[in-house]
Amino acid sequence: HTIEWSMDQATKAGYPHFMLKEIHEQPQGIRETLNRRLDENNQIMFDDINLDKSNIDSITNIYIIACGTAYNAGLQGKFALQKIAGIKADADIASEFRYSDPFIDENTLVILVSQSGETLDTLAALREAKSKGATTLAITNVIGSSIAREADNVIYTWAGPEIAVASTKAYTTQVVVFYMLALYLADIKENISKENYSHIVDELLAIPDKVQSIIETEEKIKKIAEKIKDNTNGFFLGRGLDYSIATEASLKMKEVAYMHTEAFASGELKHGTIALIEENVPVVAIATQDNLFEKSLSNIKEVKARGAYVIGVTQISNRTIEEVADEVIFIPETDDLIAGITAIVPLQLLAYYVSILRGLDVDKPRNLAKSVTVE
Ligand code: G6P
Repeated sequence: HTIEWSMDQATKAGYPHFMLKEIHEQPQGIRETLNRRLDENNQIMFDDINLDKSNIDSITNIYIIACGTAYNAGLQGKFALQKIAGIKADADIASEFRYSDPFIDENTLVILVSQSGETLDTLAALREAKSKGATTLAITNVIGSSIAREADNVIYTWAGPEIAVASTKAYTTQVVVFYMLALYLADIKENISKENYSHIVDELLAIPDKVQSIIETEEKIKKIAEKIKDNTNGFFLGRGLDYSIATEASLKMKEVAYMHTEAFASGELKHGTIALIEENVPVVAIATQDNLFEKSLSNIKEVKARGAYVIGVTQISNRTIEEVADEVIFIPETDDLIAGITAIVPLQLLAYYVSILRGLDVDKPRNLAKSVTVE
């Protein structure tokens, strides 16, 4: 295989850290990931994938298997595959999957997500899935990596080399691939109208500019980081798709800023977590979904009443959040279905700035490795 990455991509190119550079490279990586798979009529091309209509019609369930950030991308993937393609999908942690007696047969599609393509637990899950007769599909960023070579099918993300240990641009491009895959499967299964298909493709094509506009608000995010930098605990809340964004946002904060944070499904708040809310604890409330917005507002009021410092993340039209949250990060309007791709970006920046303000080694956090090739 050929290496398509230039030396320039592997240097910081004027940025103080790889993580910041890679956050900034997301518009380009997302655009490239889309363009590689769209024809001149904006139809998704996965022709090299060895699944014809009868194979696709016979898929009864999908397992998405990964570790770390790639697993969090898989949570968004589950949402996309179920909502768009109408196929039952589950996301599982690679190191757990093998010990859970998964329901796999020849009608199961197992999707392995891995930036590096070398994570041992994910590779082992791939081998297990193959031995049980599943069709396997890898989503990876590294051409010719072990997982790419061993899977039946591969869709590459075109994020370019990711050097910072904490994954950013690999994550957003993985999520984009899931949406393309969901649209592709929905189309073949005749589960989606031409209008809706084109509408979502157009919305995906609009994402790079929206991500760019979020990046341009980074001074504001830095100010929010200053307010929370001395807290030892924090929470990320969300419902539905927003919950999967919360899991990734929380992981970023733990990895690079060493802040103990947890992601919670907003509806679970009253079943225990609310006992942890005390004066001045930061709560990032992610509320991008219109149909769930009122419920999110009431959760914000609940934590606010107990003294939390609330940072809301929502789409620009949801102005009423300003009445209840202490700070609001607005993301550009987009179809709710794909809002996770944009909503994570300010929260990557938030984790980055908390880390920098704490004087930590943001690109190489303690105890972590970019690629984990042991069990
Ligand atoms: C390590 C990295 C994480 C990454 C995970 C999975 O733990 O520190 O950033 O998400 O491995 O890596 P992969 O290459 O399989 O996506």
